[in-house]
Amino acid sequence: MALSQAAFKAEQAIGHGDNATTVQDVTNPGLFPGAAGEGTMKALAWMGKNKVEMIETARPKIMEPRDVILKITGSTVCGSDLHLLHSSVVELQKGDILGHEFCGIVDEVGDQITALKKGQRVVASFQIACGDCYYCKQKLSSQCEKTNANTLENAMYGGRTAGMFGYSHFTGGFAGGQSEYTRVPYGDVNLLPLPDDVPDELGLYLSDVLATSWHCVVDTGVKKGDVVAIWGAGPIGQMAADFSLINGASRVIMIDHNWRLQYVQEKYPHIETIDFSALGKGESVTSKLKEMCNNRGPDVSLECAAGEYAKGWAHYFEIMLGLETDTSEIVNEMISSTRNFGRCGITGVYVGFTNHFNIGSLMERGIRLIGNGQAPVHLYWESLLKMIQDKQIDPLKMVSHRVRLEDLDKVYYKFENKEDGMQKVFAETKFSAPPCKGSPALTRF
Ligand SMILES: NC(=O)c1ccc[n+]([C@@H]2O[C@H](COP(=O)([O-])OP(=O)(O)OC[C@H]3O[C@@H](n4cnc5c(N)ncnc54)[C@H](O)[C@@H]3O)[C@@H](O)[C@H]2O)c1
Ligand SMILES: [Zn+2]
Ligand SMILES: [Zn+2]
Repeated sequence: MALSQAAFKAEQAIGHGDNATTVQDVTNPGLFPGAAGEGTMKALAWMGKNKVEMIETARPKIMEPRDVILKITGSTVCGSDLHLLHSSVVELQKGDILGHEFCGIVDEVGDQITALKKGQRVVASFQIACGDCYYCKQKLSSQCEKTNANTLENAMYGGRTAGMFGYSHFTGGFAGGQSEYTRVPYGDVNLLPLPDDVPDELGLYLSDVLATSWHCVVDTGVKKGDVVAIWGAGPIGQMAADFSLINGASRVIMIDHNWRLQYVQEKYPHIETIDFSALGKGESVTSKLKEMCNNRGPDVSLECAAGEYAKGWAHYFEIMLGLETDTSEIVNEMISSTRNFGRCGITGVYVGFTNHFNIGSLMERGIRLIGNGQAPVHLYWESLLKMIQDKQIDPLKMVSHRVRLEDLDKVYYKFENKEDGMQKVFAETKFSAPPCKGSPALTRF
């Protein structure tokens, strides 16, 4: 049995905590007793390590009085979905429906929902928050204490995150939104109404990528005049670059090793880039950054890549042999590159433990290393919606393709391999409105 499934068996044997106030492990309404509504729907399911498939399964139904059933009109694939695809995040089960960024139309509401009506357009946050606990009262929704009872996460981390849509049983086990319908627990808390002047193609990204990049920038303390270095030129890194400039950064330098750097140069001509695969003999990302930044280094470094992407053989083998779960290479590069007393923030996903961490440089040079956490979407989504309405930000800048839900399994592999210039997609369903102005034309696979 693969590690991911074995971890879930262990979780079942130990048993969940008693903190959750919403039902756990409903990752596919067709597989969970009492979760199936009438009729069937299409959905994207995890079927094993490196394997996803489009399936036909039962539609969800209202299970709890604050549930909302959403008819999905837009979803996407996130860099985090690759960590699920690869089983870097454990406790997935065959048939789990993925997808944590989605928007749609309210189709049914539970007895206790008064703020939302059938037919209303809304976007969901990737995390499921109760709205009422210690963290939710501060809008730190990603750390809600009432929606995830997972024992393994609690033991590994010394605390839990909130429950999350389509993000394995490790975060509660909730069916995701890469489907035609989804059940949203605490729908009155986890759905934000979208006004008429914000089409799905813009509103969708409030679910995750916009709030995550904004949080990465403000939580790591990017200030006016700062030089900011960003590892990872994917959608999160690109929006973090945009937000750093909005926050007054004087320069942004992005580090990656593929065509995304050219994409960045086209869309943001003022951003500087380092292609680490093209560095000369004796050069490193750190030496290059020192050279570009007064021999001191950037004021702020942002990790928007991930811990599963080993650069050298040593970490590749250590991860493969289970000696660590994440490489320390990017974090060490950030620490050694950043100027003394500068700040480093980690937004890219790290799952467990890492070796060879440069704690000496961190301590001696006063580097402030900040885990940005799973981003608390509820803290920011209203102000980010306003920034979209005021045209201060344009989420379509990072969207490369419009695709169909029916093709999402193929899209996963293209996104994983960075083929066809694919990065952020908008996945439509049979319920979607026609594309808005500026949306890429539909690509079929
Ligand atoms: N904290 C949160 O709340 C949160 C939310 C969403 C996404 N994320 C995470 O943010 C990260 C980025 O997301 P994304 O959607 O942009 O992912 P993505 O996979 O599209 O992009 C990641 C980029 O990192 C680059 N990269 C890999 N190794 C690198 C290295 N050594 N140095 C520099 N760049 C390197 C890749 O080439 C790729 O372009 C992912 O780990 C994702 O899981 C975190
Ligand atoms: Zn995500
Ligand atoms: Zn809560």
